[in-house]
Amino acid sequence: MADNIDNLLTETRRFPPAPEFTAQAVATTELVSSAADDRLAFWAEQSRSLLTWQKPFTEVLDWSNPPFAKWFADGRLNVAYNCLDRHVEQGNGERVALHWEGEPGDTRSFTYSELTAEVKKAANVLLSLGVREGDRVVIYLPMIPEAVISMLAVARIGAVHSVVFGGFSAESLRARIDDASATLVITADGGWRKGSVSALKPAVDEALEVSEHGTTTVAKVLVVQRGHNEVEWQADRDVWWHEAMAGAAEEHVAEAFEAEHPLFILYTSGTTGKPKGILHTSGGYLTGASYSHRNVFDLHPETDVYWSTADIGWITGHTYVVYGPLANGATQVIYEGTPDSPEPGRWWDLIEKYRVTLFYAAPTAIRGFMKAGREIPNRRDLSSLRLVGSVGEPINPEAWIWYRDVIGHGDVPVVDTWWQTETGSIMISALPGLTTLKPGSAQVPLPGIAVDVVDDQGAPVGNGEGGLLVITEPWPSMLRGIWGDPDRYIETYWSKFGRTVYFAGDGARKDEDGDIWLLGRVDDVMNVSGHRLSTAEIESALVSHPIVAEAAVVGAADETTGQRVVAFVILRTSQVDTMSTEDAVAALRGHVQHEIGAIAKPHTIFLVQELPKTRSGKIMRRLLRDVAEGRDIGDTTTLADTSVMQIIHAQVG
Ligand code: WT7
Repeated sequence: MADNIDNLLTETRRFPPAPEFTAQAVATTELVSSAADDRLAFWAEQSRSLLTWQKPFTEVLDWSNPPFAKWFADGRLNVAYNCLDRHVEQGNGERVALHWEGEPGDTRSFTYSELTAEVKKAANVLLSLGVREGDRVVIYLPMIPEAVISMLAVARIGAVHSVVFGGFSAESLRARIDDASATLVITADGGWRKGSVSALKPAVDEALEVSEHGTTTVAKVLVVQRGHNEVEWQADRDVWWHEAMAGAAEEHVAEAFEAEHPLFILYTSGTTGKPKGILHTSGGYLTGASYSHRNVFDLHPETDVYWSTADIGWITGHTYVVYGPLANGATQVIYEGTPDSPEPGRWWDLIEKYRVTLFYAAPTAIRGFMKAGREIPNRRDLSSLRLVGSVGEPINPEAWIWYRDVIGHGDVPVVDTWWQTETGSIMISALPGLTTLKPGSAQVPLPGIAVDVVDDQGAPVGNGEGGLLVITEPWPSMLRGIWGDPDRYIETYWSKFGRTVYFAGDGARKDEDGDIWLLGRVDDVMNVSGHRLSTAEIESALVSHPIVAEAAVVGAADETTGQRVVAFVILRTSQVDTMSTEDAVAALRGHVQHEIGAIAKPHTIFLVQELPKTRSGKIMRRLLRDVAEGRDIGDTTTLADTSVMQIIHAQVG
């Protein structure tokens, strides 16, 4: 956060849009002014023109019971039909929807006709396995075409998907299956990662072994064969995807569902130990996904080749790999593996190979490539690119400039997009062709979106001042709740400044033009490589290990990953002399990986004897962050015992 403020004060570079870009841009000044004239009429018009409604809506927004919003409530549509069949009916069936590339170099591509046919069959498979409208289906898959096909098949029959990132452990998977009472899991034997097959199905087997209540709601597990690794098989429960698909009926007519029909649940970390199941519904979500994808990425579906490197396990994969691009009839690339397999230029290789024009990635990856050197991308022909985007965390101006110069050959717009799992789609971004770009700033709310930066009392701050980011009007792709927990929904997002103001949890600053600069989270949520992690969740994983008495976790600044996880742990007295520090640290890192997943594994664990607490017993993470970042310790006067910090300092060396 401190670095960003420095950048804020010194960053003065400006990049006005190129006239040739503006001349062909999707987003126009008319778009901006029509949203400003009448926000609700604007959204109604966007939704009508971007989507195909089987029953047109007459009502735009019902905000009579905030924060429970209903958008386009009397309309009916089918989300999968909007992403597939209608493109075929409109004569674009031969356009490529997906160019898929496996990590080992195998490829598959699907036209819109072919993808529609696959999703229809998969919908019939789900029906034959007993899945019905409203049922929850957990998807735990690598980045393979079946991941996209599964999501759309679930949506097509009006069931609700909950995608769990393949990097999460069996424990995390179990918690998500239980919370949503899912009846079906779709997984794979394994997927390719960093040059070898990494198994997935064993985690599903483990998650289903004993669920919290001793039973599981899951009746069937559908298994895609990808890794060809050996897996255990439960004949009454497990079904091979390819066998089921081979026998599936080919015709499936998409039924229309209400606009507010649940589409998916996606779990994300909050300030407490338990992940929140963020709920998104159909008509509003798809409107936001399609609208933002078209305007922010300047999508010309007939000619562009779009690639977002996000995994479907995250919201970016939902909105900007599956729903936005496919609703817009785009041609896109999806890639299974890691950026550096088998060699560090793999991403740039793919851009060259598929002539990618629009590219969307996270700052962590960009900073990683910066470190590795420009020689690697320079060996590839990246001339096809005409726009690059950034998402997930603040992008520092140096990384922004490198991204534009080295990847975007010095002349493409860079769009830094701010949004969240909860917002469903991009809220703040430059509009390519219109906005003069400022490296390091996400800049302006999209037309139709109302954001502000406010002080602790909720009063808007002036230009040049900082505060808390809020969204002041409801928007179509907003979350509709937390699965099974309406109180937590109100409490987390709609209490700080009243029931109609959405509290995002981010600090922000308005510059002299009123443009917005994001400053990082103001709560106990960390952001590691653009992935959201909760300090409380990792703490509760640590204290569930028998050797641990107490634990505190902080996110410390990291040059490449934005933040890294640092834990301070007090061992139980009985353990202190029986285990070496190395063994204890290794055991605890392994334990966090087992409880949550590899992404949550602490980078550093300090074994200490005390933790800094206030008189009311609250851990002062701010002081631990000072230690973790090697800074002088700030104000300690509110500590119950002011000598604690000296002790900790001596212990962490
Ligand atoms: C949090 C949301 C949005 C998809 C991926 C992350 C941070 C996200 C930016 C950005 C600064 C950003 C915020 C936000 N964040 N994009 N462009 N600049 N910060 O979704 O996991 O729900 O995390 O990511 O702190 O609150 P998420």
